[in-house]
Amino acid sequence: MDNVKKEMLIDAYVARATPMPTLPASAVRILELSKGDETDVEEIADAVMTDKVLTARMIRLVNSAFWGLRRQVTSIREAIVYLGLHQIRSIVLTTSLFNTFESKNPHFDVTHIWEHGLGCAMISRRIAKMAGYKDLEKAYIAGLMHDIGKVILSQYSLQEYDRVLELVRLGDHTFYDAETEILGVNHTDFATWFKTQWGFAEELAEVIAMHHSPEKAVLDPYLVCIVNLADLFSSLRGLDYEMTQNMMVVFREEYAWKKIVELSPNLEQTDLKRFTFELDAMIDEVKQTVQEIYHQQDDAEV
Ligand SMILES: [Fe+2]
Ligand SMILES: [Fe+2]
Repeated sequence: MDNVKKEMLIDAYVARATPMPTLPASAVRILELSKGDETDVEEIADAVMTDKVLTARMIRLVNSAFWGLRRQVTSIREAIVYLGLHQIRSIVLTTSLFNTFESKNPHFDVTHIWEHGLGCAMISRRIAKMAGYKDLEKAYIAGLMHDIGKVILSQYSLQEYDRVLELVRLGDHTFYDAETEILGVNHTDFATWFKTQWGFAEELAEVIAMHHSPEKAVLDPYLVCIVNLADLFSSLRGLDYEMTQNMMVVFREEYAWKKIVELSPNLEQTDLKRFTFELDAMIDEVKQTVQEIYHQQDDAEV
């Protein structure tokens, strides 16, 4: 199918999500505020606290073991002080996305989507750190957002997506293949749409477009490879929308691994077994955090 036809199809799918979800105003304001170097912590804390659900979810996420704080924080001010603004941006973005895309499809629980997203975010950040990649928060955000096209398709093209799920559940199709077969487009085709409509950075759009074909990346191939590995690892460990697909992966033989070794030749010596044990610990943490975040919202709304 040519690109023009694909774009028409994408527009048609997005049109069903009317009005198209947008990040809450409070989140947009916080992301703006935390961009500058001379940011006022009080001002950010005030902006967060205008949104009760966001505040509760942020505190839960900040206290997840992943961020490595030595003590539990109980307020947004403390969270900003202990974590710093870069990490707060990642946390605001994560919780805002959780808030923006609540479940619409009864057959495809949005919780699984965010388990996969948060898992890939955390693992991407960890791989980026190990590989000496320049921007850890960028790696986290790219991991979080790589399947955002799947959120749109699964939550707003309900009937067709049920057929996609059926094919994946049968076990011989990946999401990518099943979406292409049933819908004519797949979740990676949404990259351009998010770039033009939501103003996503070029590198982030490239991750969305190429995370299943990292060898095609040109703008920031290391970033795409990091997310590709995080995605594979998450799927292997069951953070895969509850659709464990039969797969065999030997990391050292993956294109993405070989590319990252170019960035950091010391990785050749990495004890991959030990490293995967460390990642394993994150998987349960991710599941628990996502469950608690969604659960917490119920409490906050009462
Ligand atoms: Fe994907
Ligand atoms: Fe994925």
